[in-house]
Amino acid sequence: MTENFNTHGAEIEKVLMSAEEIDEATTRIAGEIDRDLEGCSDKVIMLGILKGSVVFMSDLMKKVKTPVEIDFMKVASYSGTESTGRVEIILDLNRQDLSDSRVIVVEDIIDSGRTLSYLTEYLRLNGAKSVKTCTLLDKPSRRVVDFVPDYVGREIPDEFVIGYGLDYDEKYRTLPFVGVLAKSVYAPDEAKND
Ligand code: IMP
Ligand code: MG
Repeated sequence: MTENFNTHGAEIEKVLMSAEEIDEATTRIAGEIDRDLEGCSDKVIMLGILKGSVVFMSDLMKKVKTPVEIDFMKVASYSGTESTGRVEIILDLNRQDLSDSRVIVVEDIIDSGRTLSYLTEYLRLNGAKSVKTCTLLDKPSRRVVDFVPDYVGREIPDEFVIGYGLDYDEKYRTLPFVGVLAKSVYAPDEAKND
């Protein structure tokens, strides 16, 4: 089930979503997307947010039957400016005109909601015909701005998770499941008091 689990031993506290559960959620979301796009003759762009969404989007796009184009953007959010929540675009879409396109933004996880609320607004301002959002994981309890995604794999509690594209310090992205990172990895002092 979780082939690489042992490689990381004590770093992973528990498996939150197994490869099988991820596959089921991805199949369900692909079905929802196909149903919503039934009869649609517009161009559809599945837009992955680098790097975290890469694994999820690769699996999702293979299950969606509606023809879609793919593209990517890369953004950075600045935790140093918590109050304003600045999001910076590092890699933009290489398209001038979105006016004939329906965009489905694909994320790995939604936390404060800042990244996706900024991006949906940005894509709408750039003329997208519609903007929908899709995330494998959602931590609704962490919201700083109001944001409700259209497609969600699973809502999870406020825990730091890794694997299936999600990283801690660029590590663990290649794990085939989603796991909770042990506190001893990112907050060793707190972990001692647990
Ligand atoms: P938001 O703008 O706060 O919603 O930020 C979402 C981004 O924060 C995601 O795309 C991830 O890159 C990162 N993130 C939030 N929670 C986690 C987590 O538990 N593990 C790994 N990355 C996370
Ligand atoms: Mg991300």
